Amino acid sequence: MKNWTTTHYKPHARRETIIDVYRSRFNIHKIPNGKQYWSLCSDCTNDGEPHKDTEIGQMIHHDIISEQDFVGVDIDSNTISRNTIAYPHATWICNDFFAAMCEVDTFEPAIVNFDTISTPKYAIPVLGDIINIVPPNTMIVCNMILKCRNQIILPISEISQQIQIHLSGVDVDFHPDIMTYLNGTTEMATIVCYT
Ligand SMILES: C[S@@+](CC[C@H](N)C(=O)[O-])C[C@H]1O[C@@H](n2cnc3c(N)ncnc32)[C@H](O)[C@@H]1O
Repeated sequence: MKNWTTTHYKPHARRETIIDVYRSRFNIHKIPNGKQYWSLCSDCTNDGEPHKDTEIGQMIHHDIISEQDFVGVDIDSNTISRNTIAYPHATWICNDFFAAMCEVDTFEPAIVNFDTISTPKYAIPVLGDIINIVPPNTMIVCNMILKCRNQIILPISEISQQIQIHLSGVDVDFHPDIMTYLNGTTEMATIVCYT
């Protein structure tokens, strides 16, 4: 298991679970023209300023996307306002993540980062809903809590089976490893799948 609780765990985690995995799966450096990177985004600034270790900053820095490819969604309106000022060429939406996907005019994801700190009870049905509506050749990355204070919430071996229950005839491929990591005393899992 990774322990990313030390310094800069987010950039390391994003590099290993998003950038490297996407490039190795699709054998391309950058998402195709006209495609989008969707993220449950949080604050993508450093004190209101753009920064290369935030999610959008890192993705642009590694040249897997351009600024205008990024669609950041958060239910917190202050977060969205700050991000809009720092990165004005990206799209920022204050809404529920799945509702935003259903409501936009142009939904062309190449990558979806459903980066929750939720338990499988909430995250898995929504992940299923997302997989059901994304186009072919989309990579979906989902973080969720697996174990809290030594209490197992869902064994790793049951995750993909639980996700399949929510799919409506969509073909999905799972990355062979479910990557697990510690966030304080909480054990998280990163699930990557492709349509
Ligand atoms: C773990 S953070 C995202 C971190 C970010 N992806 C990164 O790599 O730095 C999760 C964010 O999701 C937002 N959030 C939680 N539930 C949501 C929902 N249903 N729809 C939209 N945003 C939500 C929270 O406000 C929080 O800012």
